[in-house]
Amino acid sequence: MSCDTVQFSNFVILIKTLYNMSIHKSVKRVTTHVLHEMKLKGEKIAMLTAYDYSMAKIVDAAEIDVILVGDSASNVMAGYETTLPITLDNMIYHAASVVRAVKRALVVVDLPFGTYQGNSKEALASSIRIMKETGAHAVKLEGGREVVESVERILSAGIPVMGHLGLTPQSIHKFGTYVVRAREIEEANRLLSDASLLEKTGCFAIVLEKIPASLAEEVTKSLKIPLIGIGAGSKVDGQVLVLHDMLGLNQEFSPRFLRRYHNLHSEIKGAVQAYIADVRSQDFPNEKEQY
Ligand code: KIV
Repeated sequence: MSCDTVQFSNFVILIKTLYNMSIHKSVKRVTTHVLHEMKLKGEKIAMLTAYDYSMAKIVDAAEIDVILVGDSASNVMAGYETTLPITLDNMIYHAASVVRAVKRALVVVDLPFGTYQGNSKEALASSIRIMKETGAHAVKLEGGREVVESVERILSAGIPVMGHLGLTPQSIHKFGTYVVRAREIEEANRLLSDASLLEKTGCFAIVLEKIPASLAEEVTKSLKIPLIGIGAGSKVDGQVLVLHDMLGLNQEFSPRFLRRYHNLHSEIKGAVQAYIADVRSQDFPNEKEQY
C-alpha cells in the first residue's frame, strides 16, 4: 500500500469517527438542550415540517432533528391560500398524529393565527391545550416585541418557545406580498433587536424566514440560541423546509430558496395512472391477488 493510500484511509477513518461522535448521532431524543449543544459545536440543525402520522414516521426514521407541525398545514393539507384559516383544533389534530409517530425528533407546533395575539393569557391557554392534547415538546409563534409578554407567560408554565421573524406568513395582509423582508436598514435593525429580545426573554431558537443572507448571518453570530433559516442563506445554525415542497408534491410553489429533492407529484400521478389502466384492462387483480 502506498503512503498516499494509507494517509487517505486514515483520513477517512478520522472523518467517520468525528461523524459518529457528532451530537446528532449520539442522542436518542432531540431536546432544546441538544440543539444548543449543536450550535456550540457548529453542527447544523435539520428541520422539516410534517402534519400526519405516516409522513412523520418516515421523517423521524431518517433522523431529522426537529419536526415542525407548521401552520403551513393550512396551505398544503387543507388547500387554503394563506395560513390564517387553520384553527387550534386543526393544529391539535395534526400535532397529535405526528407525535404518535415520532421517537427521536423534537416536535414543535405552530400556534395558529388568532390564538395568541389577543393577550398573553390566551397565548398560554392555547399553548397548554397544544402541550396537553398532543404531547408535543414546544410551540412556535410569529413576531418580535409585540409577542414578548406572551412568550414570557408561556415560558412561565414551562413550555419551550420558538420564535419566528422576517417573513411571518400570518401577517401577509399587512405585508401585502411574500417578497424578501428586512432589505431596508430600518427593518433590518428592528429584526436584529427583536431577535435579541426573544433570546433574552427565553426563546430556545428562532426561525428566520426570507431575509437577506448577510442579515441572517449577523443575527446568527450575535445570538447564543440557534437560528433556523428558510430562505435566509447558509450562515445560520440550521435549515427548515416545508416537506411537501421539498418532496415536489406541489408544483405551483417555486421560490428561489426551495431545493426539490424529489418529484413526488409525477411519481404519484404515474402510479395512479398505472392503477387506473390495470383496473380498466382487468389486469388487476390477478389470480394471486384474490381469495
Ligand atoms: O408553517 C410553517 O411551515 C413554517 C415554516 C415555513 C418555518 O412556519
